[in-house]
Amino acid sequence: MTLLGSFLTDPSFKTVLYIVAIALFIYGLTGLTGPRTAVRGNRIAAVGMAIAIVATLLVDPFNNVVLIVLGLVIGTAIGVPAARQVKMTAMPQMVALFNGVGGGAVALIAWAEFRETDAFASEATYVAVFSMFSAIIGSISFWGSNIAFGKLQAILSGKPVTLGPLQLPVQLVVGAAAVAAAVAIVAGAQAEIIVIGLLVAAAIFGVLLVLPIGGADMPVVISLLNAFTGLAAAAAGVALDNQALIVAGMIVGASGTILTQQMAIAMNRTITSVVVGGFGGEVTAEAGAGAGGAEGGTVKSTSAADAAIQMSYARQVVVVPGYGMAVAQAQHAVREMAKVLEDKGVEVKYAIHPVAGRMPGHMNVLLAEADVPYEQLKEMDEINNEFSRTDVSLIIGANDVTNPDARTKPDSPIYGMPILNVDESSSIIVLKRSMSSGYAGIENPLFFNDKTQMLFGDAKGSVGEITSELQAL
Ligand code: TAP
Repeated sequence: MTLLGSFLTDPSFKTVLYIVAIALFIYGLTGLTGPRTAVRGNRIAAVGMAIAIVATLLVDPFNNVVLIVLGLVIGTAIGVPAARQVKMTAMPQMVALFNGVGGGAVALIAWAEFRETDAFASEATYVAVFSMFSAIIGSISFWGSNIAFGKLQAILSGKPVTLGPLQLPVQLVVGAAAVAAAVAIVAGAQAEIIVIGLLVAAAIFGVLLVLPIGGADMPVVISLLNAFTGLAAAAAGVALDNQALIVAGMIVGASGTILTQQMAIAMNRTITSVVVGGFGGEVTAEAGAGAGGAEGGTVKSTSAADAAIQMSYARQVVVVPGYGMAVAQAQHAVREMAKVLEDKGVEVKYAIHPVAGRMPGHMNVLLAEADVPYEQLKEMDEINNEFSRTDVSLIIGANDVTNPDARTKPDSPIYGMPILNVDESSSIIVLKRSMSSGYAGIENPLFFNDKTQMLFGDAKGSVGEITSELQAL
């Protein structure tokens, strides 16, 4: 072997490359804290991952090289076009799929390790323990993520599906079976069928874990499964003595856990209540349509022409986007309308609630795609003080995140959830198609407020009409 060859394949060189990769992962992650730096952060972390892959291959460059290259080619050929073409609204299911693949890969690595080491015959006990742990969690994550994907993609029903009274006993039995199989392997059992049984039992557990959860709760579930995959990968890293895998796994595990926790807090739910199931099934247009008069108030509807006149006289308009803007894909139309308003001397800001839409950062991503300047995007804490000085709040497909019951009605399911205080502004215009409820399935008294006018219709169409009226003024 040449001097260069032995340098490149030296384990110390691999360790140095791993440290560089780990540093890039962490530095890249700090970029993900804001939309302005997120793309750069993502690229930096991707470079880190490329370095980690090269470092891993350098140690034994000629072992299974054809298979490795084939895997890279197939993965790239599927992953790159899929990520480029995915619609922003389909991003949660894509994340579910990618996360599931990660969990599945970890489970397969554990199985391969079992075969490679002759059932861990001459390995330290901890190698078997961490391998079996990663096999169980990886399999749960793979199958659970696939069910989450199916629900979000509407391949499966978004409604909670359970085995009724058998749900908990069956879940306990398959969970116990997976753990028993792992204990048997660690204790020295060598039959491969036990590992296969473990993977199957964990798979059933993962399916049963996610099926009872309503489609709308899937983003929280995906984030939780993401944390599981990270933990499984870190455990595989311990078993394989691979530092890059340990650190990358722990980063994913920790950030997935924090994200899940933050989403749950912002939705005023506990993680347990999400996993046990509750609201979050498919909310149909009819579900809330009949609820219109329950508040006893009257609903005032308005026209695009009236909305345009009000806004053209405003000093400040705050746009409050929500899930309906994403459904209508109205973000570009909103940006056009804002430009026309700004040309008329109206100051336009956007109020971003942390759980508006259906995934973290949903509104930021959509508005960034439409080139809305970042400085106009105001987080909830920043904008809430400004509503009392706002002439018009224009609510575009948002509902729960503006519901004043969260502040005032202790028996409301969203009581305690921080909301955007749009009811403090002088005038409120709500763009939605009907009186239907949002994700939480509850009525919104804001729609019956004296200051509120409803402009019924698809958000994109309504915003387009307002823009035309503004231009005609
Ligand atoms: P929602 O409360 O879900 O309300 C969305 C509203 O958009 C609906 O009332 C619907 O009314 C309207 N809409 C739907 N399609 C429309 C269209 N084409 N044009 C106009 N309007 C349309 O949305 P939100 O205020 O953004 O709140 C988000 C909710 O999701 C919160 O409860 C949150 O806890 C939950 N959640 C969020 C996340 C994350 S991480 N963001 C994850 C899971 C759950 P019509 O049918 O009458 O049009």
